[in-house]
Amino acid sequence: MRVGIARERRTGERRVAATPETVRQLVGLGLEVLVEHGAGEASGHSDAAYEQAGAAIVDPLGLGDLDVLLHVRPLAPETPARLRRGAVAIGLASPSTELPTVRALRDAGVTSFALELVPRISRAQSMDALTSQALVAGYRCVLEAAMRLPRFFPLYMTAAGTIPPAKVLVLGAGVAGLQAIGTAKRLGARVSANDVRAASADEVQSMGGTFIHLDLDAADAGGGYAKELGADRAARQRQLLAPHVADADVLITTAAIPGRPAPMLVTADMVRAMRPGSVVVDLAAESGGNVEGSVAGSDVAVPTADGGGTVTIVGMKDAASTMPTDASRLYAKNVANLLALMTHDGSVEPDFGDVVVMDACLTHDGEVRHPATVEALAAADALAPDEQEGTR
Ligand code: NAI
Repeated sequence: MRVGIARERRTGERRVAATPETVRQLVGLGLEVLVEHGAGEASGHSDAAYEQAGAAIVDPLGLGDLDVLLHVRPLAPETPARLRRGAVAIGLASPSTELPTVRALRDAGVTSFALELVPRISRAQSMDALTSQALVAGYRCVLEAAMRLPRFFPLYMTAAGTIPPAKVLVLGAGVAGLQAIGTAKRLGARVSANDVRAASADEVQSMGGTFIHLDLDAADAGGGYAKELGADRAARQRQLLAPHVADADVLITTAAIPGRPAPMLVTADMVRAMRPGSVVVDLAAESGGNVEGSVAGSDVAVPTADGGGTVTIVGMKDAASTMPTDASRLYAKNVANLLALMTHDGSVEPDFGDVVVMDACLTHDGEVRHPATVEALAAADALAPDEQEGTR
């Protein structure tokens, strides 16, 4: 069967869905692999390396000839119609926000798998792209902060005097936040963190951070995820966090609620109360933002309340794509492992009795299979026509 790897078209996207290493894995499974010319260029993989691994380089990639399409970003709404009915697509799909593409996948009869929907069970860890890409993002956001901070991260005791370590505060201690804690610790900062899940205190401590206990009940939604706080509790959380934010040299925010806009944890007043020169990195800037005033893809300078200078808010965008070589190395393995799970004797045959395959499936046989996306589509379809912009 023919597996195609397209060059990613979206501006700012530098990752690729297969590396020469995973091409070898797929060829070993008995699959024929076609790589679009230049697909790996931005992540450091040449056409020649793919050829050596057993792929054929094609230009352009004929989507209609493929049995399987591997991709990074959600497909454009016009792409599914170019695939043949029954073809398989595997990649990130952002089903809660990319409803026009979900409809197109359904209507084209494509069997699509969204990596966001891979269940977080031990057996599926090697296919968990949310985790692999969050690891890259968490590391990178600390470097972005360090490069902008007009101070050292580590403690220095020199003949000319002692420089205290920078204080780094991490809000949201999931995969990205824990990685940020570990990275900031390795750079020598004094790191503290907060999260609303009950298990997070131990997780923060295991990475060497100090957990900030707030007088607030835990908010677990099950499955290891957090629940959205009601308005009163969210306001109370901001109030309790305010002195910790004011005391930080670097604030990194990574809080997220699956399928919902990111929670607003830090108001503009809280930012203004920080010391001049402080840096805020909002990893959630693309999904609504944890910090009031953050702009995805931009730095924003906010004057401090004491008039002494500014605080820089960095709105992270395409975070994993800023380190495309290692991000692709991990992502491509996630994709290849999911495809391998469905491949038998060189033939791709999803077994929907397998919970990983079943949960990861977004569309199949002209239907949307993911219940929350079915609900989101029904809600969008119920909107008045003038409110439907962006959902069609
Ligand atoms: P995420 O990206 O959905 O959210 C990031 C973090 O923000 C979470 O830790 C969440 O609790 C936190 N958060 C949400 N609202 C907040 C608020 N108001 N204030 C402070 N923090 C807030 O989460 P991620 O990184 O995807 O991890 C989710 C869970 O999945 C974790 O429990 C993690 O341990 C678990 N996990 C399990 C895996 C496995 O078993 N294979 C693999 C990876 C993660």
